[in-house]
Amino acid sequence: MKLWEISTSECGGDAEGIMRRGNIFQIANGYMGYRGTLDEFGSEQLVGITLAGIFDRVGDAWREPVNAPNGGYTSVTIDGVELSALSETDVEHTQSLNFANAAFQRETRFLSGDKAVTLKSSRFLSADTPNLGVIRFSIRCDAATEVMIRTGIDGDIWDLNGPHLPKLAYEKRGDVLVTYGSTHESSKGVAVAEALECGFGEDAHEICEQKNLRVIHFSAKAGKTYSFDKYFAVVTDNDAFETPVDQAAIDIVERAKVRGYMACLAKHDDVWAGKWAESDVVIEGDDEAQLALRYSILQLLMVAPVKSSSNSIPARALSGQVYKGAIFWDTELFMYPFFLHTNPEVAVELLRYRIRTLDGARRKAMTEGPGYRGAFYAWESQETGDDACSYFNVGDPITGRDLRTHFRDKQVHISGDVAIAMWKYFLHTGDDSLLLEGGAEVILECARFYFSYAYFKKDKARYEILDVIGPDEYHERVNNNAFTSQVARETFVVALAAVEHLRLKHPSQLDVLLERLEIARELIDFAEAAELLYVPEPDAETGVIEQFEGYFKLKMTTPAELKERLVHPNEYLGAGQGLAVPTQVIKQADVVMMLNLFKNRYSAAIKRANWEYYEPRTEHGSSLSACAYAMVALEFGNLDFAYRYFLKTAKIDLEAKSKLYAGTIFIGGSHPAANGGAWMTAVFGFGGVNAEDGRLSIHPRLYEKWNRLQFPLNYQGDRFVITITHEVVTITAPSTNSRTHLVNVAGDVVQCEADATLSVPLVSLCK
Ligand code: BGC
Repeated sequence: MKLWEISTSECGGDAEGIMRRGNIFQIANGYMGYRGTLDEFGSEQLVGITLAGIFDRVGDAWREPVNAPNGGYTSVTIDGVELSALSETDVEHTQSLNFANAAFQRETRFLSGDKAVTLKSSRFLSADTPNLGVIRFSIRCDAATEVMIRTGIDGDIWDLNGPHLPKLAYEKRGDVLVTYGSTHESSKGVAVAEALECGFGEDAHEICEQKNLRVIHFSAKAGKTYSFDKYFAVVTDNDAFETPVDQAAIDIVERAKVRGYMACLAKHDDVWAGKWAESDVVIEGDDEAQLALRYSILQLLMVAPVKSSSNSIPARALSGQVYKGAIFWDTELFMYPFFLHTNPEVAVELLRYRIRTLDGARRKAMTEGPGYRGAFYAWESQETGDDACSYFNVGDPITGRDLRTHFRDKQVHISGDVAIAMWKYFLHTGDDSLLLEGGAEVILECARFYFSYAYFKKDKARYEILDVIGPDEYHERVNNNAFTSQVARETFVVALAAVEHLRLKHPSQLDVLLERLEIARELIDFAEAAELLYVPEPDAETGVIEQFEGYFKLKMTTPAELKERLVHPNEYLGAGQGLAVPTQVIKQADVVMMLNLFKNRYSAAIKRANWEYYEPRTEHGSSLSACAYAMVALEFGNLDFAYRYFLKTAKIDLEAKSKLYAGTIFIGGSHPAANGGAWMTAVFGFGGVNAEDGRLSIHPRLYEKWNRLQFPLNYQGDRFVITITHEVVTITAPSTNSRTHLVNVAGDVVQCEADATLSVPLVSLCK
C-alpha cells in the first residue's frame, strides 16, 4: 500500500462523484485552493480556485469567498473531437495526489475512433510563491494526428452566490494572457495571468465563452510526446504588490517561466520537505490509519495561511465557498493545536487573524444584544470579523422556509474559545510577544463580554450564563450549558492570569493597555466571576454532568429512532420544530467536548460516566464530534472505540460519507477540523501527550496493532521527536533546543537535555 499517495481510476460518473473527487484531490497553498478537477473541466464540474481572505456579496445572497478564473484550463481536440474524461469515449484514467509535495497528477488514455491519445498533467500550487500555480501537460498520440489544444484562462467559474467578478477583461499582453476584473461589492481587483512554455505548434489568441485562450494547432507524430508548461498567477488587491493586480500577475508568471518548471518544482519541494519534517506522524503496523492520518495532516499543511497574511482557515478550508468561507470555532479548537505543536508560526497567524478582527467582535457585541460589551466574536467570521452567520441560517427542505437559528446570537462560547487559544499560545510556547501585540487585549475584551452577558443570581449568590447554544446546535437558547459556562469561567481566569503576567514582565505596557481599554476597574469583577460563575458539576451519584438545565427532563430517544421519523432525508433536526429539540438527542459532542478541553480537571471515572451517557444520544451530525469521543474514550481506556472514531475522523474526506445538506443548505467540501481532530487523537489521544498544566507529560495508550507511533512535537519553543512502542518511549531533543526539559513519561519524571536521546521503558503498561 502506498502511504504517501492516493489515487483513483474514476473520472466520469454522476455529479456527486465529480464533486467528491474535486474535494478529495484538491491542492492548496494557503493563498488559494484548486479543486481536484481535470484540466478540461468547467464550472459545471465545480472547478474552483478559491481564494483565502477575499470575500464578496452579490445582492442579498450570502457573502462568500471569491473564486478566481481558472488559469489551469486546457482542452485537447483530436480530429475535431474534444477529449473529455466525461465523454462516452473509452478512457483509462488515473488521478493521484502526492502527499509529499501536494501535487496533483492525472493520466488519461482516450480511444477516439481507432486512435489512442494519452494526456498527462501534473500541477502544484507553489509553496514558495503563494500566487503561483504550475502545470506540466503532455500529449502522446499512438498514430499521426491533427491536434488542437485550447489552453488559457477560463473565466466561466463556479460560484454558489456569484458572479463575483462580473465584468472580466480578457487580454493578451505580449506573450501573457491576462483576465481581470473586480469584485461586485467592494471593487477589489482580481487578476489571473498565464504564461506558456511550448516548443511546438502555431499559437493563435481567441476569446470564446469567457475563455481567454491560446489555440495551438499541430500535426502530432505517432508515438511522440509533446509537452508544455503552464504558469498561472492569481493576484488580488489584498496582496501588497506595488503594481496593479494585472501587472503583478504578469510579472509573477514571467519570472516563473524564466525560472522554468523544474526549478519552480525544486523550490516547492524543498518547502514541502520542511513542512513534513515538522509534522509527519508515523504509525507503523497499520497502513490504513497511516494513510488516513497523513492525508489529514496534508490537508492542514496545504491550507495553513500564508505568512504575514493574518488569515485563518475556514470550516471547509479552501475547497469552495461552502459555509461562506467563514472561520468558526473549528479553527481554534480543532486545527490550531496541530499548528501550535508542530509549527507555531502558523498558530501565530491564526491568532493574528483574531487580533485583526477584534473590532468586528466589538461591533458585534454592541449591536447584538442589550448592553453587551467587549468582544463577541462572529460565529461565522470573514475578513472584517463581522458576523456572516444569518439569523435564518438553515432552510427547511419540507416547507422551503428559512428557519430561525440562534447560532449567531447565542453561540457565545466562541469568544472564550478564542481567548483560551490565545493564552495557550503563551503557555505552550513561552513566547509572550503575541500578548503584547493584541492578544491580551483580545482576552480582556472577551472577559468583558462574558461579564456583560452573565447574570448574577442573588438568591444563589452566583453568576450564571443563560440563554445560549452550546456545541450541540440542536438545543437552542438553553441555560447553564456546561461547556459554555466552563469556557466563560476560564476566560475570566485567563484574563486575570494574562494581567498578572504582564504586571510582572511588562508593567508599563500593561498600564497603557488597561488605560486604553478603560478596564482596570473591571478586573475585580472578573476575579469575582472567575470564582462565582456557576458551571454544572457531575451528579454526585451518577457522575453525569447535565448538558444544560432541564436536559435530563427531555425525552429519551436515540438518533436512529429520530431518523426513522424524518419526513425528508435532509430535514434539519434542530431550530424551532426540529425533531431533536424535545429530546435528548444531541448533534455533536458537548459535555464530552468540555471533558476533553478541560481534561485535567475530571477523573477517568467521570469521563467514562459521561461518555457512556452521551454517546448513545449523539448523532455525530458534525465532523467535529467523533474525535472528541475518541479522545475521551482513550482517557478511560476504551481503545477499540477510540480507534474506530479515530479512523472515522481521519477518513472523513477519503470516504466522503458525511452529510451534504443541512436542511436546504449545501455543506459539502473538505473538513479541516476533522483533520485536526485526527492529529489530536493520534498525538494527544493514543500518544498520550498532555501539555495542559505547564509541564509536558506522555502517557501512551498505543493501539494494539500499532507497533510504533512517532511524531515531532514543539513545546516551549523547543522541539522533540517522540517515539512510542509498546515497550518504550524515546524522546530525542536536537542540539538546537535551548534547555533541559522535565517530561513526565508514564509517571516517571525524566530530564530531556538538548542534543540527547533518552528512552523510558514502559514497565507498568502492558500490551
Ligand atoms: C457544527 C459546528 C461547526 C460548523 C462548521 C456545524 O455543523 O455544528 O460546530 O462549527 O458546522 O464546521
